[in-house]
Amino acid sequence: MAPKVTEVFFSPGGSGERISGLFCGFAGWEGAEKLDLLRLRDFKGAAFQPGEVAVVTAPVFFGRIPEIVARKLRDVKGDGTPAIAMVVYGNRDYEDALIELADLLTANGFVLYGAGAFVARHSIYPTIAKERPDEEDKKILRAFALQCAEKIKTGSPLEASIKGNRLYRSHGRIPFAPKGNSKCTACGACVETCPVRAIPKDAPRRTDRELCINCTACIRVCPEGARSYGGLLYRLGGIKIKKACSGYRTPEFFV
Ligand SMILES: Cc1cc2nc3c(=O)[nH]c(=O)nc-3n(C[C@H](O)[C@H](O)[C@H](O)COP(=O)(O)O)c2cc1C
Ligand code: SF4
Ligand code: SF4
Repeated sequence: MAPKVTEVFFSPGGSGERISGLFCGFAGWEGAEKLDLLRLRDFKGAAFQPGEVAVVTAPVFFGRIPEIVARKLRDVKGDGTPAIAMVVYGNRDYEDALIELADLLTANGFVLYGAGAFVARHSIYPTIAKERPDEEDKKILRAFALQCAEKIKTGSPLEASIKGNRLYRSHGRIPFAPKGNSKCTACGACVETCPVRAIPKDAPRRTDRELCINCTACIRVCPEGARSYGGLLYRLGGIKIKKACSGYRTPEFFV
C-alpha cells in the first residue's frame, strides 16, 4: 500500500512546486497532499506521523534556504517520519542549502531517505536556466524518486553524506526589489501573497525594500503583469550573475 505522502514546499517562482510534483509522480505517489508554505502566511505548524512521508522542497537563496522557510519548517514536526529533502537552484550553486534543509528536518524528528539538488529557471533573471528542468534533469529526478520510493518501502534510510558545509555561509541581500507599473489595477493579489508583507495595501505599486526578500511571488501572481524588476542595479547584477551561471550544472542526489 502506498504511504500517505505530503508535499511541503515554499516555491514563490513555481519551479520547486513543479519539481516536487514531478518527483512524486515518478515515485508513484500521485495524489499527494500539499502543504504550501508560501500561501500559509500565518502558518501555525504541522505534525507528521511515523507511517507518513514528507517531501520537502525549498529554493536556494545565496547558497542557503531562505530564512523564512527555515522559520516555518521549525514548526513542522516529524515522529520518526520518512522525509525527502530537495532544493532547487538557478544553475549557479546550492552550496550549504541542502545540508541545512536536511539538518533542519532531522532535528525536527524526520528520518531522511534521500536528498537532492535540482536546477531550474532563475526566478530573478529568468533567462538563466530558462529551459530547466530539461529532459536530462527529469531522468535524474526519476532515478532519484524511484530509489527513494524503494528505500522507504524497504526501510533503508539515507546513508550517503550530503554535500555542504555545516558552518553555513551567510545569508545575502539584494539592493533592489520589484515594483508595479501603470498596468496595476490595485487588485491586491500581490499584497495578499507577499510572504513578508512588503507591499502596502494602499499603494501596491510600491515595495518596502527593507522587508522584500526578492522571492518574486508578487511578479508571478500579478494578473496584469504589472510587477517587474528594472533599473541600473538590476541590470548590473544581471551581468555578474549571468557569468556565474554560465556553465551547465547537473542535478545531484544523495541516498
Ligand atoms: C533571492 C534569491 C537568491 C538566489 N540565490 C541563488 C543561489 O545562491 N544559487 C543559485 O543557483 N540560484 C539562486 N537563486 C535562484 C533560485 O534558487 C531559483 O530560481 C529557484 O528555482 C527558485 O525556486 P522557486 O521557483 O521554487 O521559487 C536565487 C533566487 C533568489 C530569488
Ligand atoms: S515584494 Fe519582495 S518579498 Fe514580497 S512577494 Fe514581491 S519579491 Fe517577494
Ligand atoms: S497583483 Fe498586480 S494588479 Fe494586483 S495590486 Fe499587485 S501589482 Fe497591482
